[in-house]
Amino acid sequence: MFTTDVLTGKKVTLKMCGTEYATEEYVNWLNDPQVNRFLWVRYERQTLEKITDYINEIRESEDKIIFAMIESSQNKHIGNIQLTFNKIHKYCNFGYFIGDKNFWGQEIAVEAIHLAIKWAFETTDTVRINGSLYSRNVFSLKTLLKAGFHKEAVLKDYLTWKDDARDDMVLMYLFREEFEKTGLLEH
Ligand SMILES: CC(C)(COP(=O)(O)OP(=O)(O)OC[C@H]1O[C@@H](n2cnc3c(N)ncnc32)[C@H](O)[C@@H]1OP(=O)(O)O)[C@@H](O)C(=O)NCCC(=O)NCCS
Repeated sequence: MFTTDVLTGKKVTLKMCGTEYATEEYVNWLNDPQVNRFLWVRYERQTLEKITDYINEIRESEDKIIFAMIESSQNKHIGNIQLTFNKIHKYCNFGYFIGDKNFWGQEIAVEAIHLAIKWAFETTDTVRINGSLYSRNVFSLKTLLKAGFHKEAVLKDYLTWKDDARDDMVLMYLFREEFEKTGLLEH
């Protein structure tokens, strides 16, 4: 089970996400077709009970952590970022969303990703962070490139998109040594 202090950035602060963040607004984000169109949650109607169970499950797990993104100027919960560690192979997979669309396009996700990755590299022996996304999720691709990730592979027609339509899956990575060179670990 992971625990951590608050991770403070300029635009956003990350706090460990407990059930106090399981609100109707959070449920509405996950059921919003604009927010969830690239997220697996869209396959099931989300409820307060489901997200509460999800948060509790992660809080109790040995290999996962979930952070609430708190936007600084309004001190408002706007989304989440979740990390899953493979302790044997020393990699970490992660996912994220900003549910409150008023905060899209402000590079908040880039800062949240950097805070979470910095924490991961400082507190675990992770050597590599992995991202994966639908190829048509250009917003997320731009975010990951801005965060310093590299495109590694494109898995052709790997994912179901809508009905019979399919989409490629893009795999991205970032190594510890590269992140160290950014200087972000020292602050
Ligand atoms: C993907 C996501 C996290 C990006 O967060 P963000 O903080 O808005 O990211 P950025 O501010 O870096 O924006 C990324 C790009 O998307 C563009 N963008 C963001 N919102 C947009 C919108 N509503 N309309 C058009 N473009 C938009 C930005 O202009 C930017 O492009 P640019 O670098 O050319 O300016 C956010 O859009 C989101 O949560 N989307 C829904 C869930 C999701 O897709 N999660 C990722 C799954 S892999």
